[in-house]
Amino acid sequence: MKKTKSILITGCSSGIGLCTAKGLQQFGYRVFAAARRTEDVEKLNNIGLESVLLDLNDSHSISAAVEHVLAQTGGQLFALFNNAAYGQPGAVEDLSREVLRQQFETNLFGTHELTNLIIPVMRQQGDGRIIQNSSVLGLAALPFRGAYNASKFALEGLSDTLRLELAGTGIHVSLIEPGPIESQFRANSFAMFKRNIDRQHSVHHHYYQGVEARLAKQGQAQPFTLPPDAILKKVIHALESPRPKARYYVTVPTYLLGYARRLLSTRLLDKILLKVSSGENK
Ligand SMILES: NC(=O)c1ccc[n+]([C@@H]2O[C@H](COP(=O)([O-])OP(=O)(O)OC[C@H]3O[C@@H](n4cnc5c(N)ncnc54)[C@H](OP(=O)(O)O)[C@@H]3O)[C@@H](O)[C@H]2O)c1
Repeated sequence: MKKTKSILITGCSSGIGLCTAKGLQQFGYRVFAAARRTEDVEKLNNIGLESVLLDLNDSHSISAAVEHVLAQTGGQLFALFNNAAYGQPGAVEDLSREVLRQQFETNLFGTHELTNLIIPVMRQQGDGRIIQNSSVLGLAALPFRGAYNASKFALEGLSDTLRLELAGTGIHVSLIEPGPIESQFRANSFAMFKRNIDRQHSVHHHYYQGVEARLAKQGQAQPFTLPPDAILKKVIHALESPRPKARYYVTVPTYLLGYARRLLSTRLLDKILLKVSSGENK
């Protein structure tokens, strides 16, 4: 009989995490769907997922979640999908040290801590899949996303190093590179923008008015936006393929910017990125 493979997915309260958790359960995986709020854990349990509380900003929460999952699986875990993250908008010169630190706490340090608790389990098994949800903004930077760009560039670097260090162990590391995907991401980013950026006293005050108008339009999708099951397909490949890819591009903007950054000079790429950015608030 084929053994059921298990996977832990972070950030399943909404968006890509929720879609992937449901989809992989249907596909036959034993899914541990993590969320950081008890009401979301209950909601996930109520729809038939095995849910676990996990807040990436809290080391105790991370270790308790890992302990719980391993107790359920008899110490095994085939895969980890590091999906949870948020976007902190704002110009680089408007980011306080604390706000930048917070972005890294969630998007990088918490993810790193969780991964390091799972790697020994995978080493013991002699196999495993670590899938990192990065972003097109981990490949190319856009203005006013410095904190998020930096956290995803850092995730790219850490994941590339990890892949090299795990070569030959049976553990594969893949990065997913989404462009715009339907989720709560934009609404959550808008909340962080309002909470953490002093818009009134910024030299970028006028630009921010445009950002506010754009981010407030929750119903209006950016061009080339795909539903989250576009990510699910790539995650399934990263889990099932005997030779998973190091990077999975998702959406047209990722293909365009992913290739542009490899082919063009920085000067030319900057011109394109400034054009993309200046068109955003129109
Ligand atoms: N949507 C896009 O256009 C897009 C594009 C490129 C990359 N991505 C990446 O895709 C991933 C998923 O985002 P999404 O689009 O599905 O957005 P989303 O709907 O906002 O989901 C993000 C998830 O991360 C969770 N999260 C945030 N901070 C956390 C923390 N400290 N501990 C644990 N969980 C935390 C959120 O929980 P709460 O509900 O409790 O906040 C939520 O479950 C992220 O890594 C994001 O960077 C998204």
